[in-house]
Amino acid sequence: MSELSINWKKLGFVYRRTKCHIRYVYRDGEWDGGRLEESETIPLHVAATALHYGQAAFEGLKAFRCRDGRVRIFRPEMNAARMVDTARRICMAPVDEPMFMEAVRRVIKANLEYVPPYGTGGALYIRPLLFGSGPQIGVTPAVEYTFIVMVMPVGSYYRGGLKPMRAVVYDEYDRSAPLGLGNVKVGGNYAAAMAPHELARREGIPSVLFLDAREHKYIDEFGTSNFIALTHDNKYVTPDSHSILPSVTNKCLQRLAKELGMTVERRPVEFEEIPQFATVAACGTAVVITPVNEITRGQTVYRIGPERGCLPILQKLYDRITAIQTGDGPDDHGWMKEV
Ligand code: PLP
Ligand code: COI
Repeated sequence: MSELSINWKKLGFVYRRTKCHIRYVYRDGEWDGGRLEESETIPLHVAATALHYGQAAFEGLKAFRCRDGRVRIFRPEMNAARMVDTARRICMAPVDEPMFMEAVRRVIKANLEYVPPYGTGGALYIRPLLFGSGPQIGVTPAVEYTFIVMVMPVGSYYRGGLKPMRAVVYDEYDRSAPLGLGNVKVGGNYAAAMAPHELARREGIPSVLFLDAREHKYIDEFGTSNFIALTHDNKYVTPDSHSILPSVTNKCLQRLAKELGMTVERRPVEFEEIPQFATVAACGTAVVITPVNEITRGQTVYRIGPERGCLPILQKLYDRITAIQTGDGPDDHGWMKEV
């Protein structure tokens, strides 16, 4: 299928050059028609608001080479809508859904050879990026914006499949303020998580769990994914908080959980509840579903879930969502969009 010398089964989650990205510029109150660009660099004004004041947002979604050989995108309209919310929150020119969809389709079509083959477990990661590229020196929104969509083949973010991982809570760090930017996807949220992530990495722990910034009583989310927990009495529990990113994956899993007969509870979740859960997991585009079998907070280590493997119900959720994405199962909800 492809002439590229890529080991599709060992992709990991790393930057890879592909043929091109697509780039649009917003000037004089309107977006241009977009261009495919092969260069990996962009000329940028030294006073661009993205550089100085963090007017920068991104999205993350995936396209899959399905069983029938066609390439399909997983729920792109949800990412388009979230990027509009993010743009509004930090006063950037929004990209409407038709333009977002056009950009995603054009860049995928131009990079089709980079979509991992069916059966390898890989996907084409799609990374839309929107930022203030015009100059300001006072704290005001730019008048020029750039919208880029780049793509690259990826494998799993962590170890892959349903292999459990460790997580850590650092009470010295918050990711987002109670009425801050946690519910939108701005670059600054990831800057806030960088130092605790580096601390964790040095301890050999792949993920950081953030608590509500006001009291450190409730669970918000992981630095790169939402928090979900399954209970012994067949409940799917996930935090309801203003400070967490509304995850497309989480919404899909809630739907699938209901279809599997589970009760879905979206509510404030106290950290103290952790020992009562049958399973805890991280969910998101990059991490898919990754179980968490150990959470460290201060001197205390909480062990969660079965000693080995994972709960059969979590496996079922994982199998259902991945089958929809690869075309191994029916797409009853119409979640997959043709390129
Ligand atoms: N939470 C954070 C902080 C994220 O970065 C992501 C990844 O996009 C998610 C949650 C999961 O969101 P989604 O399922 O839409 O990828
Ligand atoms: C994604 O899952 O798309 C994310 O945005 C997580 C990421 C920061 C790698």
